[in-house]
Amino acid sequence: MTEIIITKPDDMHLHLREGKLLEAVIKDTEKQFARAIVMPNLKNPVVDVEKATVYYKEIKKFSTIFEPLMTLYFTDELTLNEIKKASDSSIIIGIKLYPAGVTTNSAKGLKSIEDSYHLFEAMEKTDLPLLIHGEVSDRNVDVFDREKSFIDNYLIGITKNFPNLRVVFEHISTQDAVSFVNESSHKVAATITPQHILMNRNDLLSGGIKPHNYCLPVLKRSTHQQAVLNAAVSGNPKFFLGTDSAPHLRQEKESACGCAGVYSAATAIELYAEIFEKNNALDKLEDFSSTFGADFYQLPRNKTKLKLIKNENTIAKSIKFDGGEIIPFMAGNQIQWQSLAL
Ligand code: NCD
Ligand code: ZN
Repeated sequence: MTEIIITKPDDMHLHLREGKLLEAVIKDTEKQFARAIVMPNLKNPVVDVEKATVYYKEIKKFSTIFEPLMTLYFTDELTLNEIKKASDSSIIIGIKLYPAGVTTNSAKGLKSIEDSYHLFEAMEKTDLPLLIHGEVSDRNVDVFDREKSFIDNYLIGITKNFPNLRVVFEHISTQDAVSFVNESSHKVAATITPQHILMNRNDLLSGGIKPHNYCLPVLKRSTHQQAVLNAAVSGNPKFFLGTDSAPHLRQEKESACGCAGVYSAATAIELYAEIFEKNNALDKLEDFSSTFGADFYQLPRNKTKLKLIKNENTIAKSIKFDGGEIIPFMAGNQIQWQSLAL
C-alpha cells in the first residue's frame, strides 16, 4: 500500500496552551485533525463554561478549519450548577479529572475523589463524559505503579458506582489499564498516544536521560508497551486516538527539573500510520483515528478526508517560533508516511 484516504481524524486528547505557543502549534494540528479534545490545564485552568468559551474563541481565532472540543477542569470547587451548564453547552464535551499534583499544571486538581461522587452522579444523569488522568499523585507510590494504583483504588470504585457514566481513561500506559478497559462495559474507553506505543522506559533512561521522551504517565517496561500497542491495533472500539501532544519550550524540558509532555502534533497521524502498517493493521487505522472516538463521544463523523502517502521523510529537529523553540517527539527520526489534506 502506498496511499490511503481516510476520514479526517480527531485527536481525542490534546494540549494547545495559550498565546504564542497556541498560535505556533495549532497549524500542526489542523493539518491532520478535524477536531480535538482540548485539555483545560492552562496556567489559569479552564474551570467553568465561561472560561471555556473565552478559550474556545481564542483557539478559533487561529484556525478556521479546526473545531476544538472543550473540557472543563474538575476542581474541588466544581458545582452541580456548572455541570448542568456544561451539559447544556454546545462547546463542552466533558470534564477532565486530574488528581491534584499528578502532572503539568494540576495543582488545582481533585484532592478527594470520594467527595465528588455527587458530581459524578450528576454527570451520569446528564450523560456528560468524565475524562480521567488515571494516576495517583501519592509520592509514596512508585512512579511506575501509579496507573495501576489508580485503577485499584479509584477507577474500579467510580465505574462500579456509576455504571452509566461515560469514562475515558486517558493515555493508558500499562497492561493493567488495557485489561481494565477490556473488562469494563462499553461506557468505558481509553485514548492511546504514539509515545506509549513506540517507546518504553529504556527510551527514557538507558544510555543517558532523554528529557524529550519524558511524559506522564511515564513510559513503562516493554511488556506494557506491547499491551498498549496490541490494544491500539485490535480494532476494539474502546481504544481510540488521543495524542496527548503537550508542547513545552526546549529549556523547560532540558532542565534540572524537566516538564512532562511530548510534542507530537506535527507528525502524529504519520506515526500512527507507520505503527498500524508494521502490525498489518493499516485497514484499522481509520476506525482508530476517525470513527471510534467520534462514536464514543456521540459526535457526527467528519466529512472531510485526509490522504496519507508513503513517502519517507524526516521529523524536524526543532520547531522555532516567535516565543522560543520546541523539540518535537522523535526529532530527526525518519518516518514513512506523509499526510496531505484533501
Ligand atoms: C501534559 C502537559 O504537559 O500538559 N503532560 C504530559 O506529560 N502528558 C499533562 C498531562 O496530560 O499529563
Ligand atoms: Zn494530557
